[in-house]
Amino acid sequence: MSEVVKILDTTLRDGEQSPGASMNTEEKIQIAKQLEKLRVDIIEAGFAAASPGDFEAINRIAAVIENSTVCSLARAVEKDIEAAGRAIEPAKSKRIHTFIATSPIHMKYKLRMEPDEVLKRAVEAVGYAREFTDDVQFSCEDAGRSDMGFLKEIIAAAVEAGATTINIPDTVGYRFPHEMGEMIAELVKFIGDRATIAVHCHNDLGLATANSLYSVLNGARQVECTINGLGERAGNAALEEVVMAIRTRKDLFEGITTNINTKEIYTASRLVATITGIEPQPNKAIVGKNAFAHESGIHQDGVLKHKDTYEIMRAEDIGLETNLIVLGKHSGRHAFKSRIKALGFDLSDEEINKAFEKFKILADRKKEITDDDLRIIITSEITSIPETFRLKKLQINDCSEGVPSAAVTIEYDGKEITDAGIGDGTIDAIFKTIDRISGYSGSLHDYEVKAVSKGKDALAKVVVKVVFEEDKPAVIGHGLSIDTMMASAKAYIGALNSYISMKDILTKKSREEGEDI
Ligand code: KIV
Ligand code: ZN
Repeated sequence: MSEVVKILDTTLRDGEQSPGASMNTEEKIQIAKQLEKLRVDIIEAGFAAASPGDFEAINRIAAVIENSTVCSLARAVEKDIEAAGRAIEPAKSKRIHTFIATSPIHMKYKLRMEPDEVLKRAVEAVGYAREFTDDVQFSCEDAGRSDMGFLKEIIAAAVEAGATTINIPDTVGYRFPHEMGEMIAELVKFIGDRATIAVHCHNDLGLATANSLYSVLNGARQVECTINGLGERAGNAALEEVVMAIRTRKDLFEGITTNINTKEIYTASRLVATITGIEPQPNKAIVGKNAFAHESGIHQDGVLKHKDTYEIMRAEDIGLETNLIVLGKHSGRHAFKSRIKALGFDLSDEEINKAFEKFKILADRKKEITDDDLRIIITSEITSIPETFRLKKLQINDCSEGVPSAAVTIEYDGKEITDAGIGDGTIDAIFKTIDRISGYSGSLHDYEVKAVSKGKDALAKVVVKVVFEEDKPAVIGHGLSIDTMMASAKAYIGALNSYISMKDILTKKSREEGEDI
């Protein structure tokens, strides 16, 4: 009989806390669907009380996911737990994950609370969460620097109050593997079969995967991780590393397995990289672009003679195809359709038609359309939000002398509106003109441009972070084009459309709650 280590994926929550990794609701839904294909046991879909956008994303994920448990994070406060409970309400299987800090430094300086107050809050939070679901996880934030005596006291009380999973986070990535292992062994012995012990390791010293694995060897039966190791600061333990290590070293993890379908790992990694714009480093274990490449002659010769000489895993095990197929302008609908299917996308006929149109436009301007180009075309198609404003034309004048200017045509409510304006630079001129046409005024908080594929004709992806209203959260917009200015205009309009749809959700929610708006 094998024992299963559950995988809780927190790409959509801790992963989103990576600088620059914000995702819109449609993008989060696509990632959640891929996590379900990967057979992740629990999807931590967000932090419901953090913003209306987070709430909406969790709520919609809860409605579409059938085979994984959907979870929301909540501080140990009533309003967070209530928001979490409401957000996960439609899920077939639902979990609330509530947490409070337990280390002396966090209790004294962050919470300004005495340990007995912290314990009381934990018990109340778990008890309240149980009113929404029987599956309640409690985390001792900064457990890695907490006192063992207090940890035992608070987790015993949390279990007594109804927690079914106790998570031990190494929040600041401080522990060494042997220390983590010892701590987990002691807590597993202490709690016995009254709850599952989970771990959540951060990578500040590059030890997150090692710490997670040592925890499993010492009895942890849930690991929290993210795709590509995204996460706060240096990130979290990478799902692909934890899962492939357990699978590859069966000799060490005797009788222990995960439920993960490893053949979906590569697709999940590419989807997350495409959506967030954060590429794993080339030498990243398992999913980096060099992870299965053999450069030196001696290695190549060895692999050709016998794969096991230099390979401990197969590229196919993670779903990585090594014979790359490239499409071009002569590729027909059939080749396009079968390639996107091979990339793991399951599209409706309408979505295929729209994506095919975009593919043809791109193929006219770009000789080779790579898998990464296709991934970005398709994800931008299926993750788009309602287009209140749509860019029709852009003309710029960015001569080195003189004033940069832009003429923009936007479609709104079936009509085309054109205006022109100047700015401190071309991008500023474009954004100001869009503001003039739309009647909104955004302040740009972040602007990033990336080449999606290789070559001079690579696609440019622009990501902007814009605040349209003081005291309201920033919204993200993505724009994709072979031309950077065009991609910038699309990204800004995307952010504006996102803001408008967020406002619509807020208005609807306030109406439902009977508030004045
Ligand atoms: O790192 C951490 O402590 C967390 C908790 C909220 C689980 O992310
Ligand atoms: Zn964390």
